[in-house]
Amino acid sequence: MSSLKNNNIVLMGFMGVGKGSLARELTKQTGRMAIDSDDLIESMQNMKVSKIFEKEGEAYFRKCEKNLSKWMKKSVENTIISIGGGFHHVGNLQKIGHVIYLESSFNAILDRINSFDNAKSKLKKRPLLQNMAKAKALINERHPAYIEQADTVIQTAGKTSSELAEEIINMFKLNK
Ligand code: S3P
Repeated sequence: MSSLKNNNIVLMGFMGVGKGSLARELTKQTGRMAIDSDDLIESMQNMKVSKIFEKEGEAYFRKCEKNLSKWMKKSVENTIISIGGGFHHVGNLQKIGHVIYLESSFNAILDRINSFDNAKSKLKKRPLLQNMAKAKALINERHPAYIEQADTVIQTAGKTSSELAEEIINMFKLNK
């Protein structure tokens, strides 16, 4: 596969799978710009995602994601886009770009998070990762929806972000 819709790559997958790290690695290796849906919402709302959930509720956050997706569909080109783990609810992600589902098991995701020195803050900033039983049910519930929206599925377990970036760069023959 060597062509990209809108020249965007959309990195989709569950919380903590490594979308942001991979986006940064792809930027480093290709020079392309990268944006992250949570970062954009936080700067527009001048509030952290956890605060938005607490003060305005999840439904409000989902509306922010929906608005952002409209802008992405119209105005973003040539960009690596990492999206929050629930962003796929906006629908038609393929209108934004080529959607890569970063697939991993729940346990591998937890192992990845726990491997960081700041694991506690990585967990704390994610309101939907507070209750592990609920989070595990959520990944199982979302998996079919991720598959439905994906153009490409990549298994991430056991791979570093630099190896994953290499895989994507080769897949799309992206310039280095
Ligand atoms: C969410 C994932 C988070 C963030 C919010 C909700 C989700 O992003 O958008 O906490 O519903 O899965 P990350 O996937 O980057 O953690």
